Amino acid sequence: MRTLVHLSDLHFGRVDSALLAPLVQRVRELRPHVVVVSGDLTQRARTAQFEAARRFLDSLPRPQVVVPGNHDVPLYNVVQRFFAPLARFRRIIGADLEPAYVDDELAVVGINTARSLAFKGGRISKAQIERIRARLRAFDKRVTKVLVSHHPFDVPPQVGERHIVGRAGRAVRAFAECGADLLLSGHLHETHAGDAAARYGLEAGAPLVVQAGTATSTRGRGESNSFNAVYVEARRTRVDRHAWDPAARRFDLAASEVFERAGPGWRPSKVELPPPPA
Ligand SMILES: [Fe+2]
Ligand SMILES: [Fe+2]
Repeated sequence: MRTLVHLSDLHFGRVDSALLAPLVQRVRELRPHVVVVSGDLTQRARTAQFEAARRFLDSLPRPQVVVPGNHDVPLYNVVQRFFAPLARFRRIIGADLEPAYVDDELAVVGINTARSLAFKGGRISKAQIERIRARLRAFDKRVTKVLVSHHPFDVPPQVGERHIVGRAGRAVRAFAECGADLLLSGHLHETHAGDAAARYGLEAGAPLVVQAGTATSTRGRGESNSFNAVYVEARRTRVDRHAWDPAARRFDLAASEVFERAGPGWRPSKVELPPPPA
């Protein structure tokens, strides 16, 4: 079993700073094999905001797989936006926009879906889909394959389709063919998990789409600040949501869902995985 901690939508520049130390403490307690951050590290892509995000990342366990979000592209600096949209992200957070973590049970690969031309929406290119296919095919069949992007490839029914990454249908079909198991994303500031079989009419291999809420932003859209701990086994995945408890002033387990590979994708399961290490 492998443990991933999935944080998203940090939004430095608009964080509730009281949450930072308790968040770091909770993540450390979970002793993850890898920490994933699915974009929107900053509120306005300013240098000081990236530097604050950098300090926060440095306080978290490693290894880390971090991808940018739409807020990490400068909005008002038009020259930067169109000619070097992710220059600050690359300089301060990570030069590689498709970072990866791989061990003998788990492969986690990042995808950059942030674009200069779209203010909010994201997109995946044909070239990116081909690169991901080649990478997924190179991994052993037994390895659980996880892709990380800011923009979601599927959304819960109450969320508009406009939030789905452009070219998602083609991408998800390609990922399913190549054995992608999980797609982790953020952007909605809303927690959700469910497989992508129904939306894309997949008959087999549909990946499980797992959304994390916002870990630290003051804009929670009705949901408390939270992050996910994702426990992966060959055919089972458990998603634990750890949410901020303002009275206790700490992050605590708020919900837990287990899924197992079945039918065209994944189905909710009552089978319990072994408990995570204390
Ligand atoms: Fe966000
Ligand atoms: Fe976003």
